[in-house]
Amino acid sequence: MVRVTFISADGARLEVDAAEGTRLLEVGQGAGMPLEGTCEGQMACSTCHVVVAPDWFAKLKPASADEEDMLDLAAGVTRTSRLSCQIALTPALDGIEVHIPGESRDMQLR
Ligand code: FES
Repeated sequence: MVRVTFISADGARLEVDAAEGTRLLEVGQGAGMPLEGTCEGQMACSTCHVVVAPDWFAKLKPASADEEDMLDLAAGVTRTSRLSCQIALTPALDGIEVHIPGESRDMQLR
C-alpha cells in the first residue's frame, strides 16, 4: 500500500492508502477530492491538476512535454504542479502529500 495525503483547498488533510500502480487521479477521486479528470487521462482537460509538496515533487518522474503543455493552461499552476492522471503510485511515493487547487479549468469546454 502507498499512503497518500490530500490537502484540500481549505487546508483539511485526508490520508488514504492506495494500491501500488494506481493513478493518483483515481485515488483522489476515490477519496472524494474534487478532481474531475474529465478526459480520463488523455492529457486534454487539466481538471486533474494537483500541486505536489516540493519534497515529493522531486521524487516524481519528470512530466512529459505534453503534460507540461497542458499544465501551462491549468488554473492556479505552481512550480510543483502535476496532472494527477500522469502519476502512478510506486512504493517510493509512500507518504506523498498533494494539495488540491481551489479551482480547475476544463480545457475541453472552451
Ligand atoms: Fe484530463 Fe488528466 S484527466 S488531463
